Amino acid sequence: MKNIQKNLKIVVGSQWGDEGKGKWVDVLSNDCDIVARFQGGNNAGHTIYINSEKHVLHQLPSGVFKNKISVLGAGVVINPVALFEEMEKIKNKVSLTAQNLWLSSRAHVISPWHIFQDGQRESSTAQPIGTTKRGIGPTYADKASRVGIRMGSYVDDHCRMGWIENLKQESPKFKEFYEQHKDEMARFHEVAAYLKKFVTDSERQILENIKSGKNVLAEGAQGTLLDINFGTYPYVTSNSTISSGALASLGLPPSCVGDVIGIGKAYVTRVGEGPFPTELFDDVGKGIAQKGHEFGATTGRPRRCGWLDLVALKYAVDINGITNLIINKFDVLNELDTIKFATAYEHPTLGKIDYFPTEIKTLAECKPVYESTPGWKKEIRGLRSYDIPSELLKYVEIIESYCQSKVCLIGTGPGPDDYLDLN
Ligand code: IMP
Repeated sequence: MKNIQKNLKIVVGSQWGDEGKGKWVDVLSNDCDIVARFQGGNNAGHTIYINSEKHVLHQLPSGVFKNKISVLGAGVVINPVALFEEMEKIKNKVSLTAQNLWLSSRAHVISPWHIFQDGQRESSTAQPIGTTKRGIGPTYADKASRVGIRMGSYVDDHCRMGWIENLKQESPKFKEFYEQHKDEMARFHEVAAYLKKFVTDSERQILENIKSGKNVLAEGAQGTLLDINFGTYPYVTSNSTISSGALASLGLPPSCVGDVIGIGKAYVTRVGEGPFPTELFDDVGKGIAQKGHEFGATTGRPRRCGWLDLVALKYAVDINGITNLIINKFDVLNELDTIKFATAYEHPTLGKIDYFPTEIKTLAECKPVYESTPGWKKEIRGLRSYDIPSELLKYVEIIESYCQSKVCLIGTGPGPDDYLDLN
C-alpha cells in the first residue's frame, strides 16, 4: 500500500489514565469522520459536558455526540449489557444505527462470568491490583488463552450457546456460577439479539475509509503507564494502551498515522495500587484532589494525586511518538504559590537517573528530584490566549523543553470551551 493517506490521528493518555481524554476526543472529533475506541472496555470513564450537561461514557467513543461514525474496534472488550444500557441512556440525544455504530466482530465479550472472576481474584489475593472489577483482566486472559468469545460469535445464538456449554463442561465452578446468576446470564443472552445489527468487520470498513481520504480518530482509554508491556507491571491494565497498540487493535498500517496526540494533566493522578514517585500525602495533594474533583468516573474511588512527573511524561512522549501534547487542568493549580515538577529520580544504588525504570521495585525505591516554578495565582478560566499569565507560559515551556514536544492546547476548566490554543 504505497501512497496511503496519513489521515489517522491517535489520542493516547500519557499518564495513568484519567487525563481528560474524553473532552479532547469530543473536540478533535469535529474534524473527523470516524472515531474508534481501540482498547479497554467499560473500565474507562470519559466525562464530557454537552450544553453544560454532564455525560460519562464508559464504552461508546467520546465522538458519539457529534454524530460521527463510532467504532468499538477489535482490541476493545465489550460488556454487551452495559453497552446496551449506555446506548439507552443517550438515545434521546443520539440516534444509533448500524450505519453510525460499528462493533467489531473480532472484539472480545465481557460476560458476567469474567466480572465475577475479576472480583474474586481481587478479593482473594494478598496483593490486589486495584482493578475496576469490570472483568477486563479475565476477558483479555481468555482472549490470549484462545478460549474467549468474540462479538461475531456472541450475536450468533448457536455459537454463544456452544461457548456456554463448553464452559459448563470444562469448569464445575462456571456451572455453579451459571445456576446462581440466572438473571444476569439471561440478560447477557437477551441483549445479543439487539446488538446483532451493529456487529461488523469494522477494521475493513475503517481501512477503506482511510484509503478514500476520510479522517479517523483512534481513541485510547486508560494511559501509557497502565500499558501491559510498558506500564508499571503488574499494576497495569490487561492490554496495550499506547499508539502502536492502536494500529494492532484496529488492524491499520503505520503508514496511515498522521498525528499522535498525548493527553496529560498539569499534575499526575493514579487510581488503584502501584508505585507513584511524585505522590503527595500533604494538604497540597488534598487540595488538588478536591479542586480537580479527582474521583474515578467509573468506580468513584478517590484518585491519588501528585506533582507532574516529567521523567514519566517524556517516557510517554517517546514510546508513543507523541507529536502534540494537550495538557489539562491547569486551572486546578490556580491558587498555588509554587509549582513543583520532577525532572529526575534519585535511586539508592543507581544514583540520579532520568529514565523510567523497567521494574516497579526500582521505581518504588526512586525519590523524585524536584524543580519548581512560580504559580500564576489567578483564575484562568475564560481567559483569551493573549491574557495567559507569564508564569503559566513558563510552566508550559518547561514541559515542552523537557519532553521535546509541542504543547498545543491547555485545559482551563471542565467545559468544552475551557481551553486555550497555544498554536
Ligand atoms: P482494570 O483495567 O480494571 O483491570 O484495572 C487495572 C488497573 O488499571 C487498575 O489500577 C485500575 O485502577 C486502572 N484503570 C483501569 N481503567 C482506568 C481508567 O479509565 N482510568 C484510570 N485507571 C484505570
